[in-house]
Amino acid sequence: MMMLCILLLSALTAISIAFSPNAGLTNTALHRSSLSSTSLKMADEVKVGDKVPSVVLKEGQANYETPVDVNLSDLIAGKKVAIFAVPGAFTPGCSKSHLPSFITAQEELKAKGVDMTICIATNDAYVMEAWGRTSGGAAAGIRFLSDANAELSRALGLSIEGGVMVRTKRFSLIAEDGVVTHYFSSANESSDTWAPNVLAAL
Ligand SMILES: *[C@@H]1O[C@H](CO)[C@@H](O)[C@H](O)[C@H]1NC(C)=O
Ligand SMILES: *[C@@H]1O[C@H](CO)[C@@H](O)[C@H](O)[C@H]1NC(C)=O
Repeated sequence: MMMLCILLLSALTAISIAFSPNAGLTNTALHRSSLSSTSLKMADEVKVGDKVPSVVLKEGQANYETPVDVNLSDLIAGKKVAIFAVPGAFTPGCSKSHLPSFITAQEELKAKGVDMTICIATNDAYVMEAWGRTSGGAAAGIRFLSDANAELSRALGLSIEGGVMVRTKRFSLIAEDGVVTHYFSSANESSDTWAPNVLAAL
């Protein structure tokens, strides 16, 4: 029964990949993935010392103006930044815990030299803008960027493939001048990625 479920999940994942716009890219990941895993990784999981991948993300604008491209490498060059990513905008864990923890921590993060906090999810830019606006996150100075085609999530080895949409595993990291200095995985506990744990490490 267990094996059947695993095979079924793998087949579903393969089908969803075949129809994804990045099919060519994900096929490599498919070959790398084992049957027992439905989470396909484009790359090894990010670690301290890695460069934050150079990707272009989308940032939603006020009044439903067209989202603008944001080159992540350019945005974080020469700065100390906190980047956190969540599986979904407006989802409970992200809206009740992860995001509020970073809103509350803005002053303390700045006191520890963090110039900017960036929130990322694979939701589209309009959703990210609305989440930033309605949560108070944007007013607190947090930038809400959309990784809608999961390019960043895959490059960091943190995508969750095969669902309705590709999502991002919950994580937080600190980068200085584009290089990861601290990485907080949610593999054990979601709360490991929340701002108090990040602050404690800085
Ligand atoms: C981001 O900008 C840098 C130059 O500042 C460039 O080297 C890099 O290719 C750009 N990234 C993308 C994905 O376009
Ligand atoms: C998870 O917990 C184990 C046991 O404490 C530890 O060795 C491991 O490093 C933790 N993993 C992460 C990603 O925090």
